Amino acid sequence: MKSEEIRKRFLTFFEKRGHAIIPSASLVPENDPSVLFTTAGMQPLTPYLMGQEHPKGKRLVGIQKCVRTQDIEEIGDSTHVTFFEMMGNWSLGDYFKKDAIRWSYEFLTNKKEGLGLDPSRLYITVFDGNDDAPRDEESVSIWEGVGIDKSRIYFLEDNWWSPGDNGPSGPDTEIFYDLTKNGLGDMSLEEFKKADERQNVVEIWNNVFMEYEKKDGRVVGELSQKNVDTGAGLERITMVMQGKDNVFDTDLFTYAMAVTEKNISDENKNLTKEMRIIADHIRTAVFIVSDGVTPSNTDRGYILRRLIRRAVRFADILSLESEGMKKLIDSIVIKYENVYENVKSQQIKIQEEIKKEEIKFRATLKNGTKELEKIFIKID
Ligand code: GLY
Repeated sequence: MKSEEIRKRFLTFFEKRGHAIIPSASLVPENDPSVLFTTAGMQPLTPYLMGQEHPKGKRLVGIQKCVRTQDIEEIGDSTHVTFFEMMGNWSLGDYFKKDAIRWSYEFLTNKKEGLGLDPSRLYITVFDGNDDAPRDEESVSIWEGVGIDKSRIYFLEDNWWSPGDNGPSGPDTEIFYDLTKNGLGDMSLEEFKKADERQNVVEIWNNVFMEYEKKDGRVVGELSQKNVDTGAGLERITMVMQGKDNVFDTDLFTYAMAVTEKNISDENKNLTKEMRIIADHIRTAVFIVSDGVTPSNTDRGYILRRLIRRAVRFADILSLESEGMKKLIDSIVIKYENVYENVKSQQIKIQEEIKKEEIKFRATLKNGTKELEKIFIKID
């Protein structure tokens, strides 16, 4: 199933269950100065999770563009990316655990309306409880009710999700999928944790029950309403649906990876990690520029600058020239132009900004080399 079909099925499934479809907000947060980029699907909805009335009602569904750069050193492995799309359905003080869990299960496993994933490959984690909130036995019985065996449900204290130190938060129940060829079968908690570390199982869905408020990193009380916030990464779900073991082999990246490979020298074609880094960083840069950010030395502009410069460094290692970089940008625009209109309308600007930054960086590198040469001459 192509990513386009996954998007369509997700939105339709929840629309049929009373959710209003909302468009992705910009990557530049509109009313949250505490973060540089939108990092989660729920972020633009924070005021509504806190109790404000949303103009489209209490049930929403959407696919949100997100940027997270804290794991930048991990890019190139199977699942980390700096830009991703988060599919999410939200209940703003409406339905709670029962519907959220049942619908997530139904969407993932139903062949006709959902994705038709194999239920025997699912593993579930739930909140184990701590001083802030009790162990989530309710979610366990709902999971058992949909047919998940208790031996595949694990209690973890980490199952708590919040976007940061302040705002709505709560216990979550996460859904993992077994990627191995023969299937892992029943696992103890320890075996499950090891399978997670090895990326043999991968988290594909998170149901967060946002009923608490955090201030300065501490839970300070209950919210005025009980919300549901789900997060299902499109890249990972696509990977699972397409039977791949990494997100770079899915249709979301195939053009970008193919163009990168075609434009590098033959002896470098086995440097997969470096190619992935370039494709990832340039894809993120495309989306950041399309939302109006340009490279600079501060805040968002600085993150963009770092991404482009990092991509250029790896492009140099692989001998990917400027013309190849331009083709890579075009391939990303082609993949997303029907989903995000501003990627197409800003195509020239995106090309120009990335090119300008590439030139500046190369000039800086050249000057740096000259300075170094001078030092060596003096030492000699
Ligand atoms: N908002 C839930 C998640 O990003 O996992």
